[in-house]
Amino acid sequence: MVIDTLHLHTFKNISAKSTLPSNKSDPIGIFDSGVGGLSIAKRITEHLPKEQLIYIADSQYAPYGDISNQQIIERVNIIADELINKKCKAIVIACNTATVNAIDQLRERLSVPIIGVEPAIKPAATLSKAKKIGILVTQATANNERFIALVNQHKNDAEVFIQPCLGLVELIEQGQQKSEKFNLLLNQYLSPLITKKIDTLVLGCTHYPFMSDAIKAIMPNNVQLLETATPVSEQLKRQLAKHQLLATHPPKTAHKFYSSSTNPRQNEIFSQLWQSEIKVNLFK
Ligand code: DGL
Repeated sequence: MVIDTLHLHTFKNISAKSTLPSNKSDPIGIFDSGVGGLSIAKRITEHLPKEQLIYIADSQYAPYGDISNQQIIERVNIIADELINKKCKAIVIACNTATVNAIDQLRERLSVPIIGVEPAIKPAATLSKAKKIGILVTQATANNERFIALVNQHKNDAEVFIQPCLGLVELIEQGQQKSEKFNLLLNQYLSPLITKKIDTLVLGCTHYPFMSDAIKAIMPNNVQLLETATPVSEQLKRQLAKHQLLATHPPKTAHKFYSSSTNPRQNEIFSQLWQSEIKVNLFK
């Protein structure tokens, strides 16, 4: 994997682009390190059916968990600028790893509403009767100070077990979430949480809702799963309403999907997760 040797001052020079006034009919930009953010995008299309989406999967660089904080910030800035160039009126960072590493810097630089995702720890602490919560995350999120602070801020009197899940994002990126290898890894990550008798499991990565059925098949029936697609789309709606940017008519243009990956199976992988035919364009 090669990371462009760009520096942050490069982005500062183009921040003026974000100050162009937006229209209600402009699209919403949404991106992830890969295909995981489709789980958020899908919910947005259900909650806000009048909005047009432009989705970018940075799959060439996934998982972000394997690259440095500085490299994540660089990728996030490159993608956000592309979305601004495409006239997006708001940006959704549909990636926990990118949110904890780069949202503060991006908000300082761009003036459009920017919505991030963070694991649903607060609702988990309220809902857990056993006061034992598991959180599935990528290694980069598990190591992140902002994430640790979020856990400590919201866990109240609950015990929290953070489980990094190495390799799962990569397999979902390859459309292999039904493979034997995937199932073996998933069992390995869930079994300590079963031993700890958690009753609430937070999916702290946007790729993970695509394995909800597999998780339910392994975990005891009393374990509830919490993900963030609904709160994110509600927050997006509030932000658009606040800035008077909610679309008032159904979109004239179809949703557009881009990926930085040159894998010839992109159309198939996207379509399988989206559950209808998608034509993916190359994002360079
Ligand atoms: N979907 C991303 C997230 O929510 C995956 C992170 C990664 O690429 O490491 O964190």
